[in-house]
Amino acid sequence: MSVFDPHRNDLAALDAIARRRVLIERQGKDFSSNDYLALGRSRRIAAAVSDAIARGVPIGSGGSRLLRGNDPEHEMLEAEAAAFFGAETALYFSTGYAANAALFATLPQRGDLVVHDALIHASAHEGMRLGRGDSVAAAHNDVTAFEDAILAWRRGGGRGRPWIAVESLYSMDGDRAPLDELVAVAQRHDGVLLIDEAHATGVFGADGRGLAGAFEGRPDVVTLRTCGKAMGCEGALVCGPAVVRDFLINRARAFIFSTAPSPLMASAARESLRILADEPDRRTALHALVTHAEHALAPHGVTPTGRRSCRSSSATMRRRCGSRPRCRRRGSTSAGFARRPYRRGRRGSGSRLRST
Ligand SMILES: Cc1ncc(COP(=O)(O)O)c(C=O)c1O
Repeated sequence: MSVFDPHRNDLAALDAIARRRVLIERQGKDFSSNDYLALGRSRRIAAAVSDAIARGVPIGSGGSRLLRGNDPEHEMLEAEAAAFFGAETALYFSTGYAANAALFATLPQRGDLVVHDALIHASAHEGMRLGRGDSVAAAHNDVTAFEDAILAWRRGGGRGRPWIAVESLYSMDGDRAPLDELVAVAQRHDGVLLIDEAHATGVFGADGRGLAGAFEGRPDVVTLRTCGKAMGCEGALVCGPAVVRDFLINRARAFIFSTAPSPLMASAARESLRILADEPDRRTALHALVTHAEHALAPHGVTPTGRRSCRSSSATMRRRCGSRPRCRRRGSTSAGFARRPYRRGRRGSGSRLRST
């Protein structure tokens, strides 16, 4: 008997259904990372970090932003990001996970309702678990379902504010949220739209500003732009009205009680924003590769992702491949391609290979 027997049993149960995760070394061609623009190894970003070190920017922040951790690099990144994305303000978090957890745990108030897309990221669920508002899932990308959920809640006596939470681009399915219509729903019901731009930032929109660029600056829209995917670094920027930034600084526990991100990473993210604007060829090359892959893989049964109604032409392709073990074998790197199998949220919907 050991104190960790329950944990061992749990792992054995995962083994039995071929769902035990293990860490593996990087190998093969990269068809699985989110480094869509190959900025993770950018010389420009490396040079910007070297320059920051030479200017005396510290590696460690030394504490929470509210203690001594606030560095000019954080503030410059936030000002530049707000200007770049067209938001009133931005606030930098160490990860997108922490930022989402903070947003959902902090912004909706008691008596409010969060209506979230059924396929929303785990980090949003984390925040909702910690938050004070109620939450309900709406069918994926179904605008009517979002509005019906708000109407039903009002009929049941809901008096607070509705928060509509979506991702602009769903990386597992590769389709886009119908943002125009969702903004209209939020407006009709005096609500707020929370848009997670994790997989669209850097890839879509003018200068890679994402799919929500047109709505940025509205008083009823808050966006999340992660820096660890197309931007090639780490952290996340919550963009929105000044009151949201001030409120998070005062009330978000994940911001208050956590060491501030490395100021050097803020320097890296600043350079990455400049690259998004200066090097549009990276996006052009990515989109050309996606189109090439679509054509080359179609005869092999690999289809581009996204429902026809809101196809993304995203950097994600998927292939249904039945059982998880079978998917695992196909997802191996033996052919020199590193792809990842994943199981869609609902049971019975089968496993897929995700290629990015
Ligand atoms: C939609 C979405 N939101 C948030 C996150 C979390 O971002 P980060 O990886 O910076 O913690 C991810 C990362 O996988 C994501 O896909």
